[in-house]
Amino acid sequence: MGSQSWLNVLIICLIAIIGATHAELQLGFYAKSCPKAEKIVLKYVHEHIPNAPSLAAALIRLHFHDCFVRGGPYWNVPTGRRDGLISKAADVFLGLPAPFHNLTTLLTLFGNVGLDATDLVLLSGAHTIGIGHCASVSNRLYNFTGKGDQDPDLDSKYAKTLKTFKCKSINDQTTALEMDPGSRNTFDLGYYKQVVKRRGLFQSDVALLKSSTTRSIVAQQLQSPEKFFVEFAKSMEKMGRINVKIGTEGEIRKHCAFVN
Ligand SMILES: *[C@@H]1O[C@H](CO)[C@@H](O)[C@H](O)[C@H]1NC(C)=O
Ligand SMILES: *[C@@H]1O[C@H](CO)[C@@H](O)[C@H](O)[C@H]1NC(C)=O
Repeated sequence: MGSQSWLNVLIICLIAIIGATHAELQLGFYAKSCPKAEKIVLKYVHEHIPNAPSLAAALIRLHFHDCFVRGGPYWNVPTGRRDGLISKAADVFLGLPAPFHNLTTLLTLFGNVGLDATDLVLLSGAHTIGIGHCASVSNRLYNFTGKGDQDPDLDSKYAKTLKTFKCKSINDQTTALEMDPGSRNTFDLGYYKQVVKRRGLFQSDVALLKSSTTRSIVAQQLQSPEKFFVEFAKSMEKMGRINVKIGTEGEIRKHCAFVN
């Protein structure tokens, strides 16, 4: 894994943090109350990412969960963000896009929080790093419509490989799968290359091919990694502004997982 790829992820995370600045959240919100806050976060990320590659994906995912579900900040938070007073496991399933969602559902869920088709395609690009599990794909491989069939939208050669070497039975829930095989630690265009070959792991990946609009946004990304990084960061910024609590709204949790 090249240091360049980590640099990219770091830059993206940084942009995500800094980018959440707008009329309400502020850059340097903690400048007076905790001047070292941002430095501490950065130092932590710097020290831990090289030892724990999956942390990069987790970081992006954290940002994603945190913004879609009313929830609390962790150490990568846009400054000034406060915690919600409600924390329900069920909320996660209500508002959050899932691997089994189709394009209509995905666009609806994104639309509900002010994100559009471009954001959907770009944020899906985060699947260039990290892993999924057989549980999320077993129905596509073994029982797509309940008749013991395979998802016709999944490349059949790829499906065969997955069934032979990874998810050997429908009962396998836990085997880890690269979402961007061969370059899961590199933030690059690999994910979109897989998607256009109908090798996206999830239904939510293949969904991007289901409309001419989303298809062409995928094709645009493939033209330039640099442009993809810039656009991806913009969508991360946009996501960072979803459901933000500021001022006296909500609270500051003593333990991030629980309401005080
Ligand atoms: C997408 O999924 C929703 C919810 O499962 C379903 O109601 C809808 O018919 C599906 N749309 C398409 C185009 O398959
Ligand atoms: C496939 O799905 C159908 C319908 O949900 C279910 O009845 C059947 O048990 C499933 N088959 C397996 C092997 O899980």
